Amino acid sequence: MQRPIIKAVIPAAGMGTRFLPATKAMPKEMLPVVDKPAIQYVVEEAAIAGLTEIMMVTGRNKRALEDHFDRATELEALLEEKGNLELLATVRESTKLANMHYARQAFPRGLGDAVLTAAGFVGKDSFAVLLGDDLIDARNPILPTMIAVHEKFGGTVLALMEVSPEKISSYGAAAVAPIAPGSGFDNVMRITGLVEKPAKESAPSNYAVLGRYLLTSEIFDVLRVTKPGKSGEVQLTDAIAELTSREEKGGPVHGVIFNGLRYDTGDKLGYLQATIRLASERSDLGPDLRKWLREFVKGLPN
Ligand code: G1P
Repeated sequence: MQRPIIKAVIPAAGMGTRFLPATKAMPKEMLPVVDKPAIQYVVEEAAIAGLTEIMMVTGRNKRALEDHFDRATELEALLEEKGNLELLATVRESTKLANMHYARQAFPRGLGDAVLTAAGFVGKDSFAVLLGDDLIDARNPILPTMIAVHEKFGGTVLALMEVSPEKISSYGAAAVAPIAPGSGFDNVMRITGLVEKPAKESAPSNYAVLGRYLLTSEIFDVLRVTKPGKSGEVQLTDAIAELTSREEKGGPVHGVIFNGLRYDTGDKLGYLQATIRLASERSDLGPDLRKWLREFVKGLPN
């Protein structure tokens, strides 16, 4: 019987340059999607999947992240005094999701280096990595399937999504092979190679790596010797690529193909789409927003 996976690492040390000047003095992870910071959706996703020990890898300028997942005693007392219990519950929600741990990445040396910062926290356990820029809609979770695939095959499990050839250069791209029929999974492939952000012409497929990973502790030994790659950074993709030929010690590597709703909140357009979509589906805001949107769209120039 394998130990259940309860640990997750959430890298949140990025500079957020794509959202400047909004992120000059505020972490990009705190940008609200409707009325909740983007990062809270990710922590909620982890918690729902049973990942209740969460290590957030932060850096300079990220104090707000720790404050957000901590109690706000003065604010809570004030809301209690005023009898605003609904808002009080909202404020407390983020503090009850998981046990939060923090580590700091001293220099932004890349995603691989950020994950390596969590080696002590992870120990010998298998663990998940969730990237904050990818929001997976709570109605179509992927982590439970990834955990089931890990339990069946062992090794490493990534989430993959098919993208257009024009977009593959923004992602890690996977070379894939079918798995034996009758395994009980029809949306799972063996990953035989990985390239970080390849040119369209040299991409091994149109399967892009989504920001959800299930890793074993062997990844740390590989990360320790992984040389800086694309953009001069230590890439997690390069380290996982080393595992694709293994049958143990971190291998094999499988990919679960994700067909559900996902928003790229690291990108301005994706961020706006996520905000509008989620707001339009809310029972409090939705009716008025949808009415306004219909009128607004009518008046739009082509
Ligand atoms: C990172 C990874 C990349 C992956 C992507 C998913 O890139 O390096 O392999 O496909 O996340 O969102 P980033 O978007 O941080 O540049």
